[in-house]
Amino acid sequence: MVKVLFICLGNICRSPMAEAVMRDLVRKEGLEDKIIIDSAGTGNWHVGKSPHEGTRRILDRYNISYKGQKARQLIAEDLTQYDYLIGMDSENVGNIRRLAGYQKSGTIQRLLDYLEDSPVADVPDPYYTGNFDEVYEMVSKSCVNLLNEIKQVHKL
Ligand code: 4NP
Repeated sequence: MVKVLFICLGNICRSPMAEAVMRDLVRKEGLEDKIIIDSAGTGNWHVGKSPHEGTRRILDRYNISYKGQKARQLIAEDLTQYDYLIGMDSENVGNIRRLAGYQKSGTIQRLLDYLEDSPVADVPDPYYTGNFDEVYEMVSKSCVNLLNEIKQVHKL
């Protein structure tokens, strides 16, 4: 079983979108019993909340389910439980690494490390920009590449 955790700041905009998109891709490839996906936030302000309206609207537009998704905060145990810890921006990755300390953890990367020729390294936060479309573009393309890498590495 390969476990993937997407991480952002609030866990209501970017990482829940990545979670839903990736789960949809995994389901379409028939790999639900091989790859587990979740998301979390480094902050705790929105714990228990559903994804942001902007994220819900774009997922609805593409017919991607986010059923049952509720915000939760990243915990130290996630670092050893998940094989891939995918931060949406450099600040997230810094916080993930700080929480990991010197303990062994899964692979820690930024999502856009999986997007070749990306002009930016960080997924812009739509909580502040309001631009959920650009986030969806980045998330959907990066998730395809991440899934391909996981399939290759884990021979799925
Ligand atoms: P996210 O966006 O990290 O993509 O979920 C944010 C959501 C909420 C806040 C910041 C970013 N906030 O400060 O409440």
